[in-house]
Amino acid sequence: MTLPNPPLPPLPPLQIGEYTIPVPIIQGGMGVRVSANRLASAVANEGGVGIIATVALSLASKYYKKGKDYYQANVKALIDELHLAREASPQGIIGTNCMVAIRDFEAMVRTSVEYGAQLIISGAGLPLRLPEFAASHPSTALVPIVSSLRAARLLAARWRKLYRRLPDAILFEDPNTAGGHLGVRRNQLFSAEYAADQVVPQLAEWSRSEYNDEIPIITAGGIWDRADIDHALALGAKGVQMASRFLCTYECDADERYKQAFIDAKESDVVIIDSPAGLPGRALSSPFTRTLLQGGRVANKCFATCLEECSCRAVKDAFCIAEALHRAQQGDLERGLIFTGTNGVRHTHMSHVRDIFRELMTGQTASQPAAQAAPG
Ligand SMILES: Cc1cc2nc3c(=O)[nH]c(=O)nc-3n(C[C@H](O)[C@H](O)[C@H](O)COP(=O)(O)O)c2cc1C
Repeated sequence: MTLPNPPLPPLPPLQIGEYTIPVPIIQGGMGVRVSANRLASAVANEGGVGIIATVALSLASKYYKKGKDYYQANVKALIDELHLAREASPQGIIGTNCMVAIRDFEAMVRTSVEYGAQLIISGAGLPLRLPEFAASHPSTALVPIVSSLRAARLLAARWRKLYRRLPDAILFEDPNTAGGHLGVRRNQLFSAEYAADQVVPQLAEWSRSEYNDEIPIITAGGIWDRADIDHALALGAKGVQMASRFLCTYECDADERYKQAFIDAKESDVVIIDSPAGLPGRALSSPFTRTLLQGGRVANKCFATCLEECSCRAVKDAFCIAEALHRAQQGDLERGLIFTGTNGVRHTHMSHVRDIFRELMTGQTASQPAAQAAPG
């Protein structure tokens, strides 16, 4: 007779600013529209933080007419997403991910705070002016993403001096495992110096000694199961951010073909590409990345100058990353770019967000759903 596993100890709640988050799990923002209102509200309903990725939201909205009013349409699409997420999770904690590298960063932050985002997570550059753009709603928690202690120090000192405010948490993203744009140069990838095991204890010690533990450290990248969460907490993190784990959920906002690509993928199907944003990016191998990595043409025209710095404008042959990510989200796997963390290829079936949370909190796995089980 096999005995059931002993129950896991409860995970401690996470305090960020004025919010007590019952389960210390933040769902990582995933653009373009991979994490929108459905995924964010599902995570928030389980007691974690649901994050809507704001980048290029308009592309799959009724507001965007090819080549016209891209920025206005992004604002309207974000307002819709925030409303829908709040409707589906009236009590949950909902935030947004706003990237410094995009031209409408300020508009995305201002819209987020005005329409009820309780948290803003901000990376792809150091969000030096984030407190200024969010000043109208001081209760919105501001969480910058960093890839080193040096960046955290600089940012906290700058915010304190200019805005008399500290980050409500600092989110470290491990470039060796995280998905999407990575915060180090290509030649710095896979170095132990930038890994969570090295940097998270440094950040935790810095928060303790210089800020009396007032700035909780969150770690992201490579978190898949309860053992990973326990390890992160042992390193000194107060919570984790997880993105790839939620890709193959019924609630994830991408097309079913996009999710199936992860289920079909092999372990070796994770590649590093050079993004036109000037950063390396981690992606799933696909017809698009194979052409790109073999030096072939994947070019498509810049339609909205959405990035502050973009080789798509500077170099004729580069590709428009917003369009490529959008295509993949719509299920066009031939011409689309699929971002992933190293863990994305571990998916073997679709799950509900609720079952992932139950597994992480109790260790109990849901029985695998039948292939044609209805979403919902
Ligand atoms: C499909 C995908 C899209 C992403 N898009 C964004 C984004 O728009 N902004 C951002 O700051 N991070 C983005 N990320 C990074 C995640 O938010 C997260 O920090 C990281 O992937 C964590 O690692 P994990 O995927 O191993 O959990 C993306 C990741 C993935 C997998």
